[in-house]
Amino acid sequence: MSLSFNFTHAFSDKAGEHGLEPRDIAYLKPRLLDAIKQMRAQREAGKLEFLNLPYDAGAFATCAQAAESFAGVENLVIAGIGGSALGPAAIFSALCHPLHNLLDADARGGRPRLFTLDNVDPDYASAYFEFCDPRETVFNIISKSGATAETAAASLVIFDLLKKRLGAKWRDHVICTTDPKSGDLRKLCEREKLPTLDLPPAVGGRFSVLSPVGLFPAFMLGLNAEAMLFGAGEMAEFCLSVEFERNPAAQLAAILYLFDTSYGKPIHVMMTYANSLYLLADWFRQLWAESLGKAVNLDGKTVNLGPTPVKALGATDQHSQVQLYIEGPFDKVFVFLEVKEFRCELKLPALYGDVSSLGYLGGQTMNKLLASEFSATREALAKHQRPSLTISFPRVDARSIGEFFMLFEIVTALCGHLYHINPFDQPGVELGKRLTYGLMGRKGYAK
Ligand code: PA5
Repeated sequence: MSLSFNFTHAFSDKAGEHGLEPRDIAYLKPRLLDAIKQMRAQREAGKLEFLNLPYDAGAFATCAQAAESFAGVENLVIAGIGGSALGPAAIFSALCHPLHNLLDADARGGRPRLFTLDNVDPDYASAYFEFCDPRETVFNIISKSGATAETAAASLVIFDLLKKRLGAKWRDHVICTTDPKSGDLRKLCEREKLPTLDLPPAVGGRFSVLSPVGLFPAFMLGLNAEAMLFGAGEMAEFCLSVEFERNPAAQLAAILYLFDTSYGKPIHVMMTYANSLYLLADWFRQLWAESLGKAVNLDGKTVNLGPTPVKALGATDQHSQVQLYIEGPFDKVFVFLEVKEFRCELKLPALYGDVSSLGYLGGQTMNKLLASEFSATREALAKHQRPSLTISFPRVDARSIGEFFMLFEIVTALCGHLYHINPFDQPGVELGKRLTYGLMGRKGYAK
């Protein structure tokens, strides 16, 4: 495993009376070990399919081939929302050049720009359609259910645009990722003879990043999908270990659950000290919110529970959020993501040595400044009794982000067990979807 963990600042030794006591964790251990045993048994019985995604050689080969067939294209537009968009967006921002879409084709290694169309804001959507010449664009429509209104609306515009601009060749510019059998998108693909990628039926949207949802865009961008799956598979083995001290998912689940339920800290802030990891926090936000925010528990009792995930960026948000984090209510725990080695080292020129606010920086690096700001913020929080955890990436690469995805998917499943809720459904989202259908006049859905 390449990620490393530091939970010191979560405990009372560092964070005072708002920090955890080791005995709290000891008390939860038996429940977590029981949950892990259940997950292992479910995996062996072919359930919990997200755990098997790192080993799906068929999906890997199909996505590689599909990407190959679109080689040389200028733009890849993903039309999807929620779990059908956040994973690929996180992979893209973690692994591609920060200004990838502004580089010319050579500098991009002949790989396409990537745009994520995940809203039905007419100005935003129109801008994408105007910018991306259909002749040079592949549209990857991603929808597990094949019915989500936002993605359906984008599909209508895409199909119409492609047919009008490209005539009989329009089919060469679209590929749909959807359930292998059910849903209107699947039916439409059969009717129109469009190429498709299968989204495993038992994998929910927010657990699908390691399926063709994330794999196909990764191949299109020339990223190391194999290393990403390797990292995920390796992490799954650690996280299904019954040796609690070696199992980062069990420890994270225990700590975050305890902060919410026993320490009055329902706000879970993921603060990334690297721009490349910011959309990983966005991906986490959906996973945490949609999986754990539930009205009813597994016994059918109304519970209305769940932590509130928040994302933040260091050092930027030190000048926006940290005042609140340090002096505001004691209702937060912080999950820091730090990077040990960035792709670049940026030296700060030794100029203006006589100007006190500039001189001391000269000759040092921006890398050291960011690391120091992280360390100082974590320490300042702890001094104000604000607990935190740290996950360190040795570097941001395909393997480490694969590890991260699998880690938090398993942490979420384990927390589902602790909260005694189903982390794999989303009845609240479904209700909103049905009401939208009604308002838009879909047959069979009342207003
Ligand atoms: O995680 C989930 O299940 C949801 O966020 C879905 O991904 C989202 O609602 C989009 O659904 P679909 O992929 O069916 O269009």
